[in-house]
Amino acid sequence: MCGIIGYLGPKHPKDVLLSGLKNLEYRGYDSSGIALMNDESIQIIKSVGKISELEEKIKNEKLINSNIGIAHTRWATHGKPSEINAHPHSSGHITLVHNGIIENAIEIKNKLIKENIHFNSDTDSEVIASLINKYYNGNMEEAINKSIKELKGSYALLIMCDNEPNKLYAIRCESPLILGVGNKEYYVTSDIGAILNYTNKYVLLGANELVTIDKNGYKITKDNKKIVREINISNISNEDISLHGYEHYMMKEIMEEPVLVNNLIKKYANHLELLPDLKKYKHIHIVGCGSAFYVGMIGKNFFEEDGIDVSIDVASEYRYRNIKYEKSTLVILISQSGETADTIAAMRMANSKGIDTLAIVNTETSTIARESTYKVLIEAGKEIAVATTKAYILQVLILSLLSYKIKPDSNYMNDLLSLPQLLKVQLDKTGFHKKMADKVYRKKDVFFIGRRIDYAIALEGSLKLKEISYIHSEAYQAGELKHGTISLIDNKTVVFGIVTDEVTHDKTLSNLEEVIARGATPIYIGTDKLKYKNQIIIPKIHKKLQPLLVVPSLQLIAYYVAYKKGCSIDKPRNLAKSVTVE
Ligand code: F6R
Repeated sequence: MCGIIGYLGPKHPKDVLLSGLKNLEYRGYDSSGIALMNDESIQIIKSVGKISELEEKIKNEKLINSNIGIAHTRWATHGKPSEINAHPHSSGHITLVHNGIIENAIEIKNKLIKENIHFNSDTDSEVIASLINKYYNGNMEEAINKSIKELKGSYALLIMCDNEPNKLYAIRCESPLILGVGNKEYYVTSDIGAILNYTNKYVLLGANELVTIDKNGYKITKDNKKIVREINISNISNEDISLHGYEHYMMKEIMEEPVLVNNLIKKYANHLELLPDLKKYKHIHIVGCGSAFYVGMIGKNFFEEDGIDVSIDVASEYRYRNIKYEKSTLVILISQSGETADTIAAMRMANSKGIDTLAIVNTETSTIARESTYKVLIEAGKEIAVATTKAYILQVLILSLLSYKIKPDSNYMNDLLSLPQLLKVQLDKTGFHKKMADKVYRKKDVFFIGRRIDYAIALEGSLKLKEISYIHSEAYQAGELKHGTISLIDNKTVVFGIVTDEVTHDKTLSNLEEVIARGATPIYIGTDKLKYKNQIIIPKIHKKLQPLLVVPSLQLIAYYVAYKKGCSIDKPRNLAKSVTVE
């Protein structure tokens, strides 16, 4: 979940590292640090809080001359956010930064303590530094290779040794790490976005491939055997990481939705042959986490209508289920980052049983995109705000197109072509969404109710609101509320009623009346103009496209609520963009 970057080249590393950390901050932002190395020393500067605080601290320090450095932005796993627990960590000759989680860290630490090795922090990462230092006998490659054999878990490591002041080492397993190649300068980072200001050339690294970099170049080895890997060119542009005048990435990314939706429609509407054909599968399992899981719930509704048997699980549960796979099963993995640890594990479980896997994914270079049997890229560009918006919409669109391909419907295509324009008009209703946010931002409890597809939408609306505004919010199947939860409803509660599903329309409206009778303030979101004071009218469109017009409104309301509350919209507390640990 953390972000790491290393640099070796003619520049002083400070600027490269800080600029990289700012671009990586979405991966974790409770503390950060850098280490600079030269022939005489290694200088480490750390700070708790956002990168801006580290930057301030660095301004007040006299920095050593240096051409090699490593840096880290942290999302705490082992040990609370503090300067001691912040990276880089040192032990003896070794200084390193680590992204990932070492599952047997306590076991290794206890062994090392018995050997009189002393630890300063509570982190699993310091254990790795100590282990490498223990095995270091003048040969770093040997020490690193020996150490990783003892590690269980995930790691991307950037390592420096004070005895080898001209070299930078990097290695990964499970956690992402790429090598950026510039003009006689080299970058190693967990995310290409961190180095795009400097280079778009990169090399993908396989598990436990050790990169050794010095000013003459780099070499990649695995178990001491040389490996040759091609240099790729990234098509992510700096444009993707610029705010374009918006105050927050979340708003910028919501506003990109119509264009991105239009791009996918143009690509696939007349070329459905580019999408995999799911007709041949009798069973589909859909797996994802968080919003990606809620996308899957919408997909479940689509595919069931097409006559396919569908089950859906959050990845952290799916991976531990005892599944007896039937023949002709497809497992669909939904993931923006393609690096979510549980979703990767779910994919590998299915792959290992010979079951076809299909990734609906944004990041082309990611583990899930690389290891799944089939993949469809959602082409969202870089999504930087921690709360997903545009990726969610594009994932739903792909599932809708896949469903249409299974069971074409004459009413679908016209509506599909009108979607981008309708979406744009919906997003432009700024005053209207702000007005709804006014009803919510002082509340302590908000509910979202709906049935079938509207329930899946309610789940996403509720998650968006709670994660960025910190208002307690729950989504309920409208019919389930009176089996207990309705006792929470009183005149301080806001209830969003999502009512777009024709089959359950009247039932959900009755459920909305039930909460009104208990004093709640209702906000009706539906396709019919009704009598409610607070209502969001959504243009009616084909049912397999309808969520694409509802959810953007919920995204905007969540945004405006968080804005009014002065919350950290792009980087909500305790969260990180890509959950690379279990
Ligand atoms: C919520 C959100 C998360 C992600 C989840 C899965 O706004 O962004 O719930 O959807 O962590 O992430 P990916 O899609 O990268 O697997």
